[in-house]
Amino acid sequence: MKDFWKNIEKPIIALAPMDGYTDSAYRQVVKKVAPNVMCFSEFYSADWLVYSKFLADSVLPHADSEKPLIIQIFGKDPEMFAKAAQIIERYNIAGIDINMGCPAKKVVKSWHGSGLIINQDTAFRIIETINKATKLPISVKTRLSFDGWEWLLNFAKWLESAGASLLTVHWRTAKQAYTWVADFAQIYEVKKHLSIPVVCNWDIKNYDDWISKLQNLDWFMIWRGSFGNPWAFLPGNYKPTLWEILDIMEFHAAKLMETKWERKGSLEVRKHLVLYLRDFPGVKHYRKAMVTVNNLLEVQAVINQIKSDYLSQLDKKPNEIE
Ligand SMILES: Cc1cc2nc3c(=O)[nH]c(=O)nc-3n(C[C@H](O)[C@H](O)[C@H](O)COP(=O)(O)O)c2cc1C
Repeated sequence: MKDFWKNIEKPIIALAPMDGYTDSAYRQVVKKVAPNVMCFSEFYSADWLVYSKFLADSVLPHADSEKPLIIQIFGKDPEMFAKAAQIIERYNIAGIDINMGCPAKKVVKSWHGSGLIINQDTAFRIIETINKATKLPISVKTRLSFDGWEWLLNFAKWLESAGASLLTVHWRTAKQAYTWVADFAQIYEVKKHLSIPVVCNWDIKNYDDWISKLQNLDWFMIWRGSFGNPWAFLPGNYKPTLWEILDIMEFHAAKLMETKWERKGSLEVRKHLVLYLRDFPGVKHYRKAMVTVNNLLEVQAVINQIKSDYLSQLDKKPNEIE
């Protein structure tokens, strides 16, 4: 099991972890459209997984279609990581990813997330301790540095020696948060010095963009490029028809209601529905209905309305619709 990352066929395209988005429903959507994508979960607190059986039972069970699934956790106490790993193991998970990249101020101040890029001793102890506690492979997602890129190479080598079996780098510093434009030269250089797989995550728009930038790297992760566009993982700059989009919207809504129950699921589905239709010229007309849905029936009602209003154009791509 520890060899999971070494043995897996490469290159791989992955869905990046994203708090509030990459839950079981979203992952099922991505895998339905692009079955070869490797999915990472949104991050969960290691401490909370240990303290709350309710949380573990809510976020760790997953559909067969999501496999092999990687669960991402954050924290700062090596012992809590070890305990969380033993809980995660019980849910048929393929690997554990440690978040060392979240730039949120309150996260950094309490030495979680990218705070671990500064507090490197703790970062290494976390990797060593969790690695001993579980048979699952341990990977790390970090950033270029906290505030200057030269830190990454040494940090990455140390993480590798502590037992990390895969490294994902979000190619911005913690201070740059989500701004700044990509310069991939440095990450190709870092990869030359490591023997574990290196994954780049940063501003990848779609599969074709990914292939053109892969070079000596093992993978790419896509996140924001997949917002309302799980087709971003398909080759050939694939553009779905209105019918395909409506179909996936209904599937996404149904999975959210199934996994989070109707009340929470209907609140969460609102942000996704609008994103799916952002290139569709008629979206304004349905926006209000989409951001106020309260259950699956209401989602289906909006979708059916669009289908009947655009009956003759359902096989067109949104940008071809008049
Ligand atoms: C709202 C939000 C939530 C995120 N949540 C996580 C998370 O839970 N774990 C993580 O490692 N990265 C998280 N990220 C970072 C993304 O995984 C990714 O590294 C970042 O968006 C850059 O990739 P992109 O340029 O393809 O969007 C989050 C980003 C955003 C904007």
